Amino acid sequence: MRLVLTENITPEMTLGKNIYKKGCVYLRAGQRNICRYNERLKDLGVDYVYVYDELSADITIPEDVSEATRQKCQDSLRSAFGSIENNLPVDVSTFASPVKSLMDELLYNPDIQINLTDISTMDEYTFGHSVSTAVYSILIGQEVGLSRDELYDLALGAVLHDVGKVKLDPRILFKEGRLTDAEYDAIRCHPRYSYEILRYCRNMSNEAKMVAFTHHERLNGTGYPQGLTGAKLGKFSRIVAAADVFDALSTNRCYRKKWSTNKVADFMTKYAGTEFDETMVAALLKKIAIYPNGSEVMLSDGHLGLVVRQNLKVPFRPVVRVVRDHEGFWVEPYEVDLLKDLNITITASQLELQEARSEGEGHVTI
Ligand SMILES: [Fe+2]
Repeated sequence: MRLVLTENITPEMTLGKNIYKKGCVYLRAGQRNICRYNERLKDLGVDYVYVYDELSADITIPEDVSEATRQKCQDSLRSAFGSIENNLPVDVSTFASPVKSLMDELLYNPDIQINLTDISTMDEYTFGHSVSTAVYSILIGQEVGLSRDELYDLALGAVLHDVGKVKLDPRILFKEGRLTDAEYDAIRCHPRYSYEILRYCRNMSNEAKMVAFTHHERLNGTGYPQGLTGAKLGKFSRIVAAADVFDALSTNRCYRKKWSTNKVADFMTKYAGTEFDETMVAALLKKIAIYPNGSEVMLSDGHLGLVVRQNLKVPFRPVVRVVRDHEGFWVEPYEVDLLKDLNITITASQLELQEARSEGEGHVTI
């Protein structure tokens, strides 16, 4: 299976993974002749899809968290947001079952790596982001040795960290252009709102509640709302701060296109130790497939290939199946293990190649 840009789907490709819309299957894996859905997929904001074709029949994409579990968490969030809008308290106990399912799926497989390719539609950003933040937080927490009870608390804090956004004006929250100072000030109130909503909730620890208040604080004091520095920031806050930014940058927003995973990883590494806790950043990056299986990459010798499998301990150097040479001609496919062939590196991810193509730089696609 491999990842293709929706507009590059050809008639011989079969859909490799379900596409969901508002929690329901919109197109089912195995669907043939998917090019006839291209326009509708683009309208739904689905830029990329997984397909089966001859080049990629043996490439597998490891499962991380099931869509059913993600949706269970999102359903609980939807009803929590509804309660808040009606001035009713949040019933934290409704999150117990979905958060435990999330933990079970992630903790069951110690070698899990997240293939961060968002193929869902763009509806309900806040819910999807909150669940992904919880996923990354659990993975970091596991890596730094938290107990199961601590992981549950952490996940609860992560999944509810942005509930205060319900109090923000949607015209500001979803504004496409640059925010004015006043609008930015309004956005900066949401951690405080989140904390006020959760403050008197039962079945939630104080440390989990503080995640809501402190997830935009930075170790060097440049965050908000209080400009706290490292010594004042607990372990949960440090974890969720890293998880929150990692997911936000990796996702399409109304005001910005998503960044490639390697660019997000570079950004997090650059600010590890100043803004973010470097232990938490390192723990997170261990769990992410920087170049996911089935994605297209360019190598330093100019050849184009597909990522076949990961070298788990070195996420920047997977195994690549080369299919085009440096002039763009098809070659008999062969594999390069970048952990063994250290003279070759990856110079562009699929997203970066696509950005270059849309700017008129003539790389052919696979
Ligand atoms: Fe936030």
